[in-house]
Amino acid sequence: MNKKIFIKTFGCQMNEYDSNRIFDIVKKIGFLKTKNIDEANCYLLNTCHIRDKAKEKVYHEIGRVRQVFSSKKKPLVIVAGCVAQAENEEMLKREPYIDMVIGPQAYHEINYKIEEFLDKQRKLDITDFDANLKFDYLKKIKNSSSNVSSFLTIQEGCDKFCHFCVVPFTRGPEYSRPLIEIIDETKTLVKNGAREIILLGQNVNAYKYKDYKLSDLIIAIEKIPEVYRIRYYTSHPRDMTDDLINIYRVSKKLMPQVHLPVQSGSNKILKLMNRKHTINEYIEIYNKLKNINPKIKFSSDFIIGYPEEQEDDFQDTLNLIKKIDFINSFSFIFSPRPGTAASKLNLIDRKISLKRLEIVQRELFNHQIRMNKSLENMVIDVLVENKSKESSKFFGRSEYMTSVIFDANEEDIGKIVKVKIKNSNRSTLFGEKIYKSKLKVA
Ligand code: SAM
Ligand code: SF4
Ligand code: F3S
Repeated sequence: MNKKIFIKTFGCQMNEYDSNRIFDIVKKIGFLKTKNIDEANCYLLNTCHIRDKAKEKVYHEIGRVRQVFSSKKKPLVIVAGCVAQAENEEMLKREPYIDMVIGPQAYHEINYKIEEFLDKQRKLDITDFDANLKFDYLKKIKNSSSNVSSFLTIQEGCDKFCHFCVVPFTRGPEYSRPLIEIIDETKTLVKNGAREIILLGQNVNAYKYKDYKLSDLIIAIEKIPEVYRIRYYTSHPRDMTDDLINIYRVSKKLMPQVHLPVQSGSNKILKLMNRKHTINEYIEIYNKLKNINPKIKFSSDFIIGYPEEQEDDFQDTLNLIKKIDFINSFSFIFSPRPGTAASKLNLIDRKISLKRLEIVQRELFNHQIRMNKSLENMVIDVLVENKSKESSKFFGRSEYMTSVIFDANEEDIGKIVKVKIKNSNRSTLFGEKIYKSKLKVA
């Protein structure tokens, strides 16, 4: 019998990386990947617990799968990821259709657990925290991702315990992978066609393996000629140390977009969130980086309507947004998460939170529209990632991670090309590749 797995992924880029690696593992016991849920005999849902209704979303999704298979043999149903870690026992009790829950640090056990399940037909809960064992196992299995822009997890977990955040509970303590392992995986990805490496971690700039920090890793990856671009997500302001800031003086491959979540513009709220830095310290990092390279732009995450956020705290956030001119940013209403310190605090009026979110998003979106408009008729560098399935256009990204759709050729995939921007909207730039002869004339 052909074994086919259908994988659905919610959540952050680390979950996307994990889903790919889970497939690399289950391939060893004969699974093929399918995009057609109907023909799957294993359904794996990789979940995210970061905000509201995460759990309900999982049950809803499993209900949908049950419907698809109502008149057929039930597939093996596995719930992986952060909800699985947090809600393990409850899930198995509440939803009998789920056969196995597996937490993010236990994926190395998945093959023999699948075999154990098939053998004994007994529900399984695998939620130990051992990132060490996981990566030890994973280093023996080649990463098969063949994307031009490829994710690479270098660090997992978090020890910071921001009062709103569930990650330290779902991903466990901070763990950094050995540098040599990361370089080896980069070389594998490059062989598969990667030209941009996106280093990932819940706290990526806290990376520390022996005496090596993120700055050392960037320098090491930069030496691989086939890597054209390097990015890293997501950073914490407290770990934005001078060695990392100074890498922007020397690096030719590190992109000028710095994603540095600030969450709020108010010192009072930052303190309540346990972020352990002030707005002045954040602005100092911004100024240092701008002095090194004025082309650098910041993007951020914002939490709106945090408990005790008064109008003046909210105005501080708006002022910061105007001052820094953030690009490509995300904003969310505070969502109380089970087990976190902030879940015990009184919520502010939902209508006020919604109103504030709307104002923040309008400000962020307007800035993004202005920035994209300012690029019209300009020529920018784009790394070509793939050809669109629906049209003859190609897809790539600017140095600032903005999506670009343009006319080009098949052989441009994996190359950095010059694209003249003709049009734009809030999220996308549209243009056409400029050929060398035309560039000379211009
Ligand atoms: N490690 C990153 C940092 O310290 O900034 C954040 C990683 S978290 C996976 C991604 C984003 O989700 C956060 O920056 C925050 O804006 C948002 N987030 C996390 N917990 C949240 C909550 N309880 N309610 C609303 N947004 C939340
Ligand atoms: Fe969550 Fe980031 Fe805070 Fe860690 S540093 S607890 S991942 S928000
Ligand atoms: Fe979600 Fe877990 Fe990532 S909670 S944001 S999938 S680390």
